[in-house]
Amino acid sequence: MGVAVRPMADADVPAVLRIEATWRGPRRADDFRALLTDPRAWCQVAVGPQGVLGYLIAHDADVEVELHDVAVDPAARRSGAGRALVTALLTWAGTRGVAQVFLEVRQGNEPAQGLYRSLGFEAVGRRRRYYSDGEDALVFSATPSSSGAPGSTSSGGAAGGTVDGA
Ligand SMILES: CC(C)(COP(=O)(O)OP(=O)(O)OC[C@H]1O[C@@H](n2cnc3c(N)ncnc32)[C@H](O)[C@@H]1OP(=O)(O)O)[C@@H](O)C(=O)NCCC(=O)NCCS
Repeated sequence: MGVAVRPMADADVPAVLRIEATWRGPRRADDFRALLTDPRAWCQVAVGPQGVLGYLIAHDADVEVELHDVAVDPAARRSGAGRALVTALLTWAGTRGVAQVFLEVRQGNEPAQGLYRSLGFEAVGRRRRYYSDGEDALVFSATPSSSGAPGSTSSGGAAGGTVDGA
C-alpha cells in the first residue's frame, strides 16, 4: 500500500477524529483545529488512495520533541502507515537538529512498542500509574541522526518530568 505523509489540514479533522475515537475516545474538533495553528505542534496525516489512514501529533520543545499521539485506522493497520508517520517525525527532528524524541506509551501497548522499537526507540524510564486507570507508562526515547534517520538512543532525562528507571 502506498502511504504518503503530509501536514494535517483543516479538512482532515473529521477523518482524524474518527480514528481518534477508535482508540481513546473522542476529542473535540476545536481542540484539533487549535493544534493546527499552534506553532509548537507538528501535526501530520498518513494518506493512501482511500484517504486519511492515520495521524501523528508532536510537540516541539526546541532541544527535544515529544510525540503525543500516533494512531492508524484499525482497518489500515499493519500496512506501514504508523511506520511512515514516526519515520517522518524522526526525519523532521533530525533535519532540525533536535537532540531527542520522547514519548510515553502504555506498558501493555505492544503494537505501539513494537513500532517504536522497530524504529530505534528504547525504553528509558517508567512513570508509575501515569494513566487514569492506573496503568504505568514507559518512556521511550530515540536520537535522530543529523541525516534524519533514527540514531542511537539515550538514557537521559525525559521531557516534562522525572522518570523512574525502567
Ligand atoms: C501503534 C499503531 C499506530 C501502529 O500502526 P500500524 O500502521 O499498524 O503500524 P505499521 O504497519 O507501520 O507497523 C510497523 C511495525 O510496528 C510493529 N507493530 C505494528 N503492529 C504491531 C502489533 N499488533 N504487534 C506487534 N508489533 C506491531 C511491527 O514491528 C511493525 O513492523 P512489521 O509489520 O514489519 O512487523 C496502531 O496499532 C494504532 O493506531 N494503535 C492504536 C493507537 C495507539 O496505541 N497509539 C500509540 C499511542 S503511544
